[in-house]
Amino acid sequence: MPNWDREKLPRHVAVVMDGNGRWANQRGLPRTEGHKAGIDALVEVVDGALEADLEWLSTYAFSTENWKRSTGEVFFLMKSGRDVMRDWIGKLNENNVRVRWAGRPGRLWKSVVDQLKEAERVTAGNTGLNLTMCVNYGGRAELVDAMRSIAKDVAAGRVNPDKIDEELIARNLYIPEMPDVDLFLRTSGELRTSNFLMWESAYAEYVFVDELWPDFTKEHLFSAIDQYAGRDRRYGGALEGAVEVATVERDSAANEATPTELEATAAITLVPGSEQN
Ligand code: FPP
Repeated sequence: MPNWDREKLPRHVAVVMDGNGRWANQRGLPRTEGHKAGIDALVEVVDGALEADLEWLSTYAFSTENWKRSTGEVFFLMKSGRDVMRDWIGKLNENNVRVRWAGRPGRLWKSVVDQLKEAERVTAGNTGLNLTMCVNYGGRAELVDAMRSIAKDVAAGRVNPDKIDEELIARNLYIPEMPDVDLFLRTSGELRTSNFLMWESAYAEYVFVDELWPDFTKEHLFSAIDQYAGRDRRYGGALEGAVEVATVERDSAANEATPTELEATAAITLVPGSEQN
């Protein structure tokens, strides 16, 4: 594993585990074999996340759109998802991993919900890697659920609508303490985000790799972290060390602003990063 400067490490890596079906197709195997191999890859990547000392790893295990798949495939994903959590929980616990579930109970099998909640309960006191299993998860659904909960608070008089801000919305997401995604990773060469952690990924760095998920190893994870570590994150600010705006241009632009606008701009720019755009 590369010897990263801690400061350069992503705090939160989100992974769209894509390509299980294609991996199976290429081998003339049923899609379920691709999912089995995908589960093995997930276990390996969690080991990699532990080695890299990541704080958060979020995985897209079953999306709100995955119900469109054949009944047989959905049954298989429910059953194998539940069973892998049951069989894995002891090892995760030994490794100080805290399991989280993000998603809607909705149409999920009760035994799947029970197993996810059990994993959360058993590992609740752990302080190492936070492993989020996104099961029956959709980014838009998450925002809808957050809006509903805020609307209830407004209707009950607990929240003043004028006080709704980004922080309040973040506090109403499935896992309020989840930090923003730093590195968003997708396998299988597809260049889409597919409704995954939309709010949380607003400032994420994206890495798309060609490997199909079952072929993805911890070395691929380390290489993505390497790419991330080499990027310059600015959050809408300017590159440090770049040549400043010419004085004459600054002064001519400033002439167009009212005294109040000048004062407000100066107050904002005195706090670097206070206005993200
Ligand atoms: C995407 O490949 C993969 C999935 C939809 C499921 C991935 C899930 C796991 C590996 C773990 C399951 C765990 C739980 C708890 C449910 P794809 O089938 O979309 O591949 P394709 O695009 O090649 O068809």
